[in-house]
Amino acid sequence: MAPTDATAPTAGTEWWRSSVIYQIYPRSFADASGDGIGDLPGITARLEELADLAIDAVWLSPFYRSPQKDAGYDVSDFRDVDPIFGSLADFDAMIERAHSLGIRVIVDIVPNHSSDQHPWFQAALAAAPGSPERERYVFRDGTGENGELPPNNWESVFGGPMWTRVTEPDGTPGQWYLHIFDTAQPDLNWELEEVRAEFDDVLRFWLDRGVDGFRVDVAHGLIKAPGLPDFVQSQEEASMGGGAATQSPYWAQDGVHEIWRRWRRVTDEYPGDRILAAEAWVYPLEFMARWVRPDEMHQTFNFGYMEAPWDGEALRQVIDDSLETFGAVGAPSTWVLSNHDMIRHATRLSLGEDAPQGHGVGPETPGLPDIEEGIRRARAATLLMLALPGGAYLYQGEELGLPEAIDIPGDARQDPTWHRTEGERYGRDGCRVPLPWEADRAAYGFSSTGETWLPQPGLYGVLARDRQRGTVGSTLEMYRDALRLRRERGLGAGAIAWRDAPAGVLSLDNGGVRVIANIDGAPVKVHGEVLVASSPFDGDLLPPDTTVWVRAAE
Ligand code: GLC
Repeated sequence: MAPTDATAPTAGTEWWRSSVIYQIYPRSFADASGDGIGDLPGITARLEELADLAIDAVWLSPFYRSPQKDAGYDVSDFRDVDPIFGSLADFDAMIERAHSLGIRVIVDIVPNHSSDQHPWFQAALAAAPGSPERERYVFRDGTGENGELPPNNWESVFGGPMWTRVTEPDGTPGQWYLHIFDTAQPDLNWELEEVRAEFDDVLRFWLDRGVDGFRVDVAHGLIKAPGLPDFVQSQEEASMGGGAATQSPYWAQDGVHEIWRRWRRVTDEYPGDRILAAEAWVYPLEFMARWVRPDEMHQTFNFGYMEAPWDGEALRQVIDDSLETFGAVGAPSTWVLSNHDMIRHATRLSLGEDAPQGHGVGPETPGLPDIEEGIRRARAATLLMLALPGGAYLYQGEELGLPEAIDIPGDARQDPTWHRTEGERYGRDGCRVPLPWEADRAAYGFSSTGETWLPQPGLYGVLARDRQRGTVGSTLEMYRDALRLRRERGLGAGAIAWRDAPAGVLSLDNGGVRVIANIDGAPVKVHGEVLVASSPFDGDLLPPDTTVWVRAAE
């Protein structure tokens, strides 16, 4: 592939332009209470092991009060910690410990919907149609002769209709309410100033407690097209929870940007570069870049990169497009390969392009992943990612090379997707399995009692952190080396210059590091001192599925 000039670094030196942010999924990180569900004291106790990875920040998925119908993305009190995760005092202790270790803390915020157990929704159910209480959500009369049919044909992201009918306080069948996700997650009405003011206050509540920013859940939702017109989304887009530019009446409406500008004004009131990071599943990239215009959010997850196939040409294209498109609005690109919604990349990369959102063993299984190949590719993909300028996101457990847990029995599965589709879609449990810390302890050190809210595969014992720490060639040591070098050499704030390379091979320079990633090419000769390699490498011919960093000629 042909060389190009160095891509100009994005303006500004704020920390988030080049950060490495590690996603903690609290349910599955570490369980101090022994009930089988991870918690905040568990996180506090293990933070030092993250500091060892040279990350800049952690992002915590929701730990708020919640009936846990969607693993905490159904919030019943936006200003409190759910007792299964601990208390506000535990939160304060966690953030203090993180800050003392030099780790910033970003929390999830879920504005598109609340839990159906939120006092606002309970008040809406108790009130009459047309009341101010109902106005806070999206209630509509049904269609059909007696309102027995939903107001329109929208399908929920988790399967089934996007509407649920309520029983009115007098016992008669009543109005319908909208929920893009589960029935237990009614959408809030963001046209209402009261809803906007409430969330300003929630932001301030956590900012005052010292959080360094927010990962904004479903940042492409919130506003719906006037009149709620019928719309059928493709299965593929529906399962990804996102949509193409300008098509969908419930994704990526223009009106949403006004809200992010308002939120930006709130975070800007605080010192210390507090950030907003969008989860916005929108296409194409030019459209996604609107979320990070200078007066909106700071970062947005670059899902285009995550979804790129394992193909040299495609990866180079998405890297170039990302740097250019985000650069054009003055924002850093981000890079991410795994999270709590996607098949872990150690499995996904061996499944090919048709990998679904979740995976399991059953009639729908598109083929069993090749574990060796998956881990090899995952390590190569990560080593390429960590050399790129911009913000990188890591998902807990990827530093251990954890594959997706695919053999979770149906009755142990918890994701509403599995239940709402009656097992047709496996859902996301396989990437949410509790982490292995010590191979020889109960639940591999996740909980003192051996309890785990999802079963852990036996392979997680082999991949436990204590087995990998200090072991030459382990995935964990590769992450440690790469993250340390990335920090020392300022790669996140650097600029890349592509070098000539044969088909299927990517080669670039950044900050005195030369990266050679043999994605799917023929073995290629590598010169120079190897700094870190994604797989054992004899220093001569680099095989496919392998990335190395070598010292670049100064
Ligand atoms: C986001 C979250 C996902 C959740 C959904 C509804 O996509 O990442 O886990 O189910 O929003 O809140």
